[in-house]
Amino acid sequence: MEQTFIMIKPDGVQRGLVGEIISTFEKKGFYLKGMKLISVERPFAEKHYEDLSSKPFFEGLVEYIISGPVVAMVWEGKNVVATGRKIIGATNPSASDPGTIRGSFAVEIGRNVIHGSDSVESAKKEIALWFPDGTVNWQSSLHPWIFE
Ligand code: GTP
Ligand code: MG
Repeated sequence: MEQTFIMIKPDGVQRGLVGEIISTFEKKGFYLKGMKLISVERPFAEKHYEDLSSKPFFEGLVEYIISGPVVAMVWEGKNVVATGRKIIGATNPSASDPGTIRGSFAVEIGRNVIHGSDSVESAKKEIALWFPDGTVNWQSSLHPWIFE
């Protein structure tokens, strides 16, 4: 089944939003397949956001991501990439719908609490980068109650 890479950014960890965010994805019906609390070094953060390296906010973005530990996760489920982005909300929290993670918990675009892969292809790349040793293969016994 489809997988996505979700990262709780340093502000989300510092603000104690880890449990709430994990709970949101769990209650939706997605499966947690990998998770670690990790402080990343500058070159790793630059690699993760390499597509944005020409943007004027790139340096600030990298500083933000290396400013404290992050929670890196792999979530699995039907359409989890697109649905995960909907749960997260628009990039700029001023435009994020209420009820989304950014709409509920963030104010500034540069402190928007959480990252989610923007396509199945990016998800594969990001999962390989963050979880080079692979993830955990398991299936919930609730599977038939969530997926047709
Ligand atoms: P991610 O899930 O973190 O990848 O966010 P996104 O896919 O919604 O947006 P995008 O990949 O375009 O940008 C990555 C991150 O860079 C955003 O989440 C913001 O934290 C930051 N960012 C994007 N655009 C701006 C901007 O115009 N100004 C500032 N300061 N930060 C920005
Ligand atoms: Mg992005």
